[in-house]
Amino acid sequence: MESNKKMLVTSALPYANGPIHIGHLVEYIQTDIWVRFNKLRGNSVIYLCADDAHGTPIMLKAKELSISPEELINNVQIEHKKDFESFYINFDHYSSTNSISNQKLCENIFMTLNNNGHIDQREISQFYDDKEKIFLPDRYIKGTCPKCKSEDQYGDSCEACGATYSPTELINPVSILSESKPITKKTNHYFFKLKNFKEYLIKWTKDNSLQPAIKNKLDEWLNDDLNDWDITRDEPYFGFKIPNEKDKYFYVWMDAPIGYIAAFEEYSKKDDSFSGIWQDENIGKIYHFIGKDIAYFHALFWPSILKGSERRTPNGIFCHGFLTVNGKKMSKSRGTFIEAKDYLKYLDPEFLRYYFASKLNDGIEDIDLNFDDFLQKINSDLVGKLVNLASRCATFIEKKSKFFLSKDLENEKLFKDFLKNVEDVEKFYYKRKYSNAIGKIMLLTDKANQYINEKKPWSLKNDDEIQKIATQGLNYFRTLIILLSPVMPDLLRQTEKIFKEKNLKWSDCYNPKLGTKINKYVSMKKRIEREDIDKLQNMLLEINNIETKLEGKKMNNEIDYENFSSIDLRIGEIVKAEEVDGADKLLKVNVDLGDLGTKEIFAGVKKFYKAEDLLGLKTIVVCNLKPKKMKFGTSSGMILAADSDGDIIIINANEKIKNGSKVK
Ligand code: MSP
Ligand code: ZN
Repeated sequence: MESNKKMLVTSALPYANGPIHIGHLVEYIQTDIWVRFNKLRGNSVIYLCADDAHGTPIMLKAKELSISPEELINNVQIEHKKDFESFYINFDHYSSTNSISNQKLCENIFMTLNNNGHIDQREISQFYDDKEKIFLPDRYIKGTCPKCKSEDQYGDSCEACGATYSPTELINPVSILSESKPITKKTNHYFFKLKNFKEYLIKWTKDNSLQPAIKNKLDEWLNDDLNDWDITRDEPYFGFKIPNEKDKYFYVWMDAPIGYIAAFEEYSKKDDSFSGIWQDENIGKIYHFIGKDIAYFHALFWPSILKGSERRTPNGIFCHGFLTVNGKKMSKSRGTFIEAKDYLKYLDPEFLRYYFASKLNDGIEDIDLNFDDFLQKINSDLVGKLVNLASRCATFIEKKSKFFLSKDLENEKLFKDFLKNVEDVEKFYYKRKYSNAIGKIMLLTDKANQYINEKKPWSLKNDDEIQKIATQGLNYFRTLIILLSPVMPDLLRQTEKIFKEKNLKWSDCYNPKLGTKINKYVSMKKRIEREDIDKLQNMLLEINNIETKLEGKKMNNEIDYENFSSIDLRIGEIVKAEEVDGADKLLKVNVDLGDLGTKEIFAGVKKFYKAEDLLGLKTIVVCNLKPKKMKFGTSSGMILAADSDGDIIIINANEKIKNGSKVK
């Protein structure tokens, strides 16, 4: 295991177009635990992250909110930072990819890649939305899958059969922005020649201890053609302009990872002890934590870009799986799409840290948050066994020895044996096998409780003996909390208060606290009530209901306001209504429209109204409709009627409301 090492650690940069949810938190909690552990073990670690602030979705989101993209990303960054802080995710620096330092680096890296012959330029044809005047990213085009013919599939891949393709292969492509059929348009783009790095990547995958699943994926990709990577996007786009070009921008996935270096440069203004780390491997290690969905960008493009721009490559890419809730993908309509800030309204952030740790290992399998299991693990294990150990023992120290711990342990050998397990826990943390670390800590908790159960201090008469047993119990607890502290840093703070200590270090778990006075025990963690989880879910379901009601079902036959306002609507009175010989759907009515005179109109409402029902009715009429010749005569207008659950209803305009009361 490393010690006294310099390590630069990152988590993936979250997009600045939405809130942090508990899926994201899997990654930030996983990284934060590793960073805290390594810091506690005496390594010198900096943990960096930033908001990923560029790209089409962010530009469109700002437009939807009628604010500038800059305003959007500033607001979101404030929210993100707040959420991370609430979950004790402790970055040494948190930046944004939309920074001057990142822009300079991007330009610089692009120029170097170009000078080194890794950039190509050529004209391509791309789908373009002529209504919205925008080139369409693959995800903004839908159509029928060319392989399995499933409808409503995205422009890059089919969710039904898993095929990947280019958007131009879609059958009946439609722009999701305007619902119109996209046209193809030519544009000049820059490409990164990934092929140039094939040899290097093969060596890089061999030399690095990548996870087996990721290594297999990489081998697969490396055996395939390494296509040139398009790094250009056309106006309108929110991003950095490409030097010496008009209306062309770097693709967000080009400038986002470079944000790791930019965040480092910003950090270096506060502390320059890592300077040169992106050039020189000897200065320290670089590790990226990411989700499995973005392995391609981090394990293929990123090392190639670094290599091609004369930098060093990372020592590790640590991938994790995706979070499901109760066995299914998080979903708003099931009330399981849980934003960080909503979780916090009902539940303790350290409980989620503990739960994720108890499930996480070094693999890329998905992890499931199951509410029953969550409740059980927190209430029985964490609160019932571990926290309860402290409250059991502290009571004896308070009552039997005036808050003083004994000068010696009751059984030093037993305590030393207990400490032999610390190294295992260390190894598990270091290898990111947190579930094993938690398993071990819980096993030791059982041992500590067993010790108290066997000694039965409650049945003893001798206060000194009771004091020693309780002191041993409390020291087990103190050691266990230090071991758990990368996962639950606040529980450590609470524990320090009880022992009147500050800034406990990892090595303090070996030195029991003896002979001093402790503070009165105050409850540290309360059990979760089933009700709290129910309340959270009900709130989410409620929010989802309101949202879907507000948005309504999106119509795909919308008309412009101008079109609508060209309809001349007036109120007229039906002065004559009769059945039409031979017509089973129509009634013929005469409507008195004042200045416009009387119009004869055929209305298809016979199934719903009798002729005499309509006589004397005031209703709304479309007056400027072109007269239409029908089998039974000419209809020179239209009476407004609408479908209401299969019933056709003519608008009754006989009454109006004036000053709160109805008038005829
Ligand atoms: N902006 C890119 C990363 C750029 S890194 C140079 C991105 N952002 S993201 O907001 O979509 O995701 C951020 C991280 O959270 C990714 O590593 C992603 O895998 C992870 N997760 C997002 N949703 C997740 C789950 N439901 N479960 C687990 N991790 C998830 O990708
Ligand atoms: Zn398909």
